[in-house]
Amino acid sequence: MVKTGKVYLVGAGPGDPELLTLKALRLIEQVDAVVYDRLVSPEILSLIPNSTARIDVGKRPGSHPVPQQSINQILIKLAKSGQDVVRLKGGDPMIFGRGGEEALELVQHGIVVKTIPGITAAQGCAAALNLPITHRGVAHSVVYMTGHTLEDRLPNMDWRQFGTANSTLVIYMGSEKISQIVERLIQAGMAATTPALGMCNATLHNQKHLSTTLAQLPHDVKKINLDGPVLFMIGDTVALADSNGVSRHVEQDILAVGANA
Ligand SMILES: C[S@@+](CC[C@H](N)C(=O)[O-])C[C@H]1O[C@@H](n2cnc3c(N)ncnc32)[C@H](O)[C@@H]1O
Repeated sequence: MVKTGKVYLVGAGPGDPELLTLKALRLIEQVDAVVYDRLVSPEILSLIPNSTARIDVGKRPGSHPVPQQSINQILIKLAKSGQDVVRLKGGDPMIFGRGGEEALELVQHGIVVKTIPGITAAQGCAAALNLPITHRGVAHSVVYMTGHTLEDRLPNMDWRQFGTANSTLVIYMGSEKISQIVERLIQAGMAATTPALGMCNATLHNQKHLSTTLAQLPHDVKKINLDGPVLFMIGDTVALADSNGVSRHVEQDILAVGANA
């Protein structure tokens, strides 16, 4: 009888291959097949050995060449035929990556699933700008939200929570609905002057970003061509970022904390 293979749900990180974990790299080099998504960078795909089967199931916004159900079937078939599989996803597999849906389906078929975390886009984007996603006295929490749901609507949530919260709000997949999101946030009481940024291709050679205010965000985004996956960050922590990679405010704060210690 053929022994069932394992499926590793692996996070490839935001793009820069040096942000891949050692565990992810080891598994990519060891398994029989790699099933990968659109957001996995070519540099990371080049780490897959030539002898390993590679299956592209990449989806693009508005066009889904391989439906989710077929992806699940591909994974099940590979594992049932005795192959160990890396299911490679951009960022972290369990953050807006449908890793949970795949894991549930695989487990129902008696397949062992292991999750290998990856650096999510929010962390990649923040690090690229030395932006502290939380900061004492500025942001006590972080919220990751999606810009649209399965039904292509705005997420159903209580927007009032963002009105006065000392929080950093990170929006994935928000490009299409950024005007509506900004409108809701301002209606909910968030100051129109709240610092905001949009970044595409974070951590890659073609990374680009703009820093602006909440009210200006939808207009400014149109002015520059953010051609790639885009992440938005909104909150007072965004003012602590510095596009030159040096955050003056943070340095001052660290010095102040040091002086009190
Ligand atoms: C389907 S979600 C996948 C998120 C992924 N699992 C993660 O943890 O980063 C795709 C969205 O992630 C964001 N994203 C992923 N990689 C990015 C990058 N390198 N730069 C900016 N945004 C990115 C964008 O908002 C994009 O629309």
